[in-house]
Amino acid sequence: MFQLTLCILKPDVVRSPRLFNEIIQLILQRQFIFVKSKRLQLSRERAGEFYQEHQQNFFYSRLVHYMSCGPISCHILGRENAIQEWRSILGPTKVFKTIFEAQDTIRGQHGVTDTRNCGHGSDSIATAQREIGFFFPEFDMKSISKYENLLV
Ligand code: PPS
Repeated sequence: MFQLTLCILKPDVVRSPRLFNEIIQLILQRQFIFVKSKRLQLSRERAGEFYQEHQQNFFYSRLVHYMSCGPISCHILGRENAIQEWRSILGPTKVFKTIFEAQDTIRGQHGVTDTRNCGHGSDSIATAQREIGFFFPEFDMKSISKYENLLV
């Protein structure tokens, strides 16, 4: 099924043009369409809002601090099974898991910690809709079929 997902490239990636370009090339090689992209810097309040489901976790303030420490690059990606595909290229959240199971993923190669792990990907269709709406409120989710046709 054709899907859209939200991809965030985190501050460490945006700070490194070489790594940023490498990841963009990888995304293109894996047949994703860049539907919309924007670079922005989150305030602490907006970052806190985005990660509010983790408010009770011990790492919440660390995560919010990191995600608002510099510009991030946000993308709506489209392709067949985009949600799972982007998360599998990205690799597991936890660094120790990438060492044993996923050395050839983006996080396996470039992740530094469980927070500084290069990117974010939506984990379900409902989450993707909410997260795309968070960063791209002007985007009409109903226009999805227009992008599906670009894959032919
Ligand atoms: S969890 O533990 O299952 O809730 O974590 P997960 O859903 O995989 O991760 C959610 C985001 O929290 C970040 N994270 C952490 N930050 C700091 N320290 C620790 N230990 C930690 N564990 C998870 C992680 O980078 C996820 O960010 P996103 O942007 O969603 O990838």
